[in-house]
Amino acid sequence: MGDGTSETKSSNQMWGGRFAQGPDAIMEEINASIGFDKKLFAQDIRGSIAHATMLAHQGIISAEDKDKIVHGLSTILSEIESGQFEFSRQLEDIHMNVEARLATLIGPAAGRLHTARSRNDQVALDFRLWVKEELQKTEKMLTALIAAFLDRAEEHAETVMPGFTHLQTAQPVTFGHHCMAYVEMFGRDRSRVRHAIEHMDESPIGAAALAGTGFPIDRHMTAKALGFREPTRNSIDTVSDRDFALEFLAIASICATHLSRLAEEIVIWSTPQFGFVRLSDAFSTGSSIMPQKKNPDAAELVRAKTGRINGSLIALLTVMKGLPLAYSKDMQEDKEQVFDSAESLELAIAAMTGMVRDMTIRADRMKAAAGSGYSTATDLADWLVREAGLPFRDAHHVTGRAVALAEQKGCELAELSLEELQAIHADITDKVFDVLTVEASVASRTSFGGTAPSEVKKQIAWWRGRN
Ligand code: ARG
Repeated sequence: MGDGTSETKSSNQMWGGRFAQGPDAIMEEINASIGFDKKLFAQDIRGSIAHATMLAHQGIISAEDKDKIVHGLSTILSEIESGQFEFSRQLEDIHMNVEARLATLIGPAAGRLHTARSRNDQVALDFRLWVKEELQKTEKMLTALIAAFLDRAEEHAETVMPGFTHLQTAQPVTFGHHCMAYVEMFGRDRSRVRHAIEHMDESPIGAAALAGTGFPIDRHMTAKALGFREPTRNSIDTVSDRDFALEFLAIASICATHLSRLAEEIVIWSTPQFGFVRLSDAFSTGSSIMPQKKNPDAAELVRAKTGRINGSLIALLTVMKGLPLAYSKDMQEDKEQVFDSAESLELAIAAMTGMVRDMTIRADRMKAAAGSGYSTATDLADWLVREAGLPFRDAHHVTGRAVALAEQKGCELAELSLEELQAIHADITDKVFDVLTVEASVASRTSFGGTAPSEVKKQIAWWRGRN
C-alpha cells in the first residue's frame, strides 16, 4: 500500500502495475477526489452489491465470492456510517477506498468485484443515483412550499393589495392572486424536476470503461436492482456525459431565481415603509446596536444563495464544454458544484417555506396602499368604454385628465366630485363611483387567470387537485 514509508513512494495498489514510483505530492493532491466524493459512499456500495450479485447470477464470479463481497461491503457501509472508516487520499476516490478496504476485509475475492466494470461507469452510476435521490427530495420540498402558498392564498383570496409594474402601483390585485403567481412558478420548477428524473432514470453500470464488455453481464438486472427504469443504450455516451448533473443545476438555478424574487419581495414588503408583512421571530434577526430592528436575514440569504447556484451551473457547463468523448478526468470536477448547490437549494426552499407559512399579512396596510396611486384609473377608462361607448384610446385620454386633476388637488380619483368628472366628460354619471373602489376593481377581473377572488379560488382548487 502506498503509505509513503518506503524510500520512493510505492505506486497505487489499484492501478499501479506499470508504475515504478508513486505520485508526487502535488499530483496526489490535484488528483484526489475523496475529500468530496466520499459523499457517494452509500450509492457506491449499493452499486457494487448490485454488480456483484449480477456477476454471480451470470456465472461470472462464484456464489461464494459474491457472498464474501456483499458481506464485506455491508460491513464497510456500517463502518462509514458510524464514522470508523479511515479514508485515504492516496487511494484517490471513494471507489478505490471502498475496494481497498474490501480487500483487507475479505482477501482475494475482493479483486473479482471490478470484473466487467470500470470506475468510469461506476462513478457515472454513483453520481446519477445521488442526483436522482436529491431531485426526489427537491420534489417533496417544492410540494411543501406550494402547499404553504396555497394555504396563504386561500386565506387571502379577498385581501386587496397594489399590483405593481416597474414597482410602481399599477392595478389592485389580491394577495391570494399574488401568492398563486408563485404557485405557478414553483409548480413549473417541480415539473422540471419530474422530467429530469425521467431523463436520468437509466442505469450506467455495465458501460465499463467506454466500450461495454465481453463478459456476459445482464445490465437489465442491475438496472432493475438499482431502481432504474432501464439501462442506458450507448456505452460511450454513458461514461461521457454529465447532462443529468447539468440538468439538476439548471433546474436549481431557475428555482433559485424564482426564490430570489420572492426573497426580494419579502425584503421590500417587510420594510416599515411598505409594512405589508411582518416576519415571524423565527425567520428574522435583530440588530446588535439598533434595538428597534427586525431584519429579514433569511430572505436576504436566500436571495444571495442564487449567486452560488447560478455560478455552479456556469462552472460545470464550462467544464463540459468542448470535452472530447468519452471520459476525461475533467469530469471529476462535476461533484462539488452539485453538492454545494443541492445544499443551498434545500436550505433556501426550506427557509422560504417557513417564512411564507409564518409571516403575518397586514391586510390593512395592503388595502390602504392598494387604493393609492390612482390604481383604479384603468377601471375608470374601462367604464367609459362600457357605459359611455368611448373607444378605449379616448377613454384613456379622458381618464388621464381626471388623474391629472386629482393629482393637482392632492386627492384620490374617487374623491373627485361628479361635477368635476362631468366637466372632463359630460357622459360620466354617479354610477362611475361603483367601479372606483379597489374591491370593485378586483371583483370585476374575472377573466380566466384574473385577480377576481372568484377566479383565484378556482385556481387554488385546481392546484389542490395536483399536489
Ligand atoms: N474519481 C473519478 C471521477 O470522479 C472516478 C473516475 C476515474 N476514472 C478514471 N478513468 N480515472 O471522475
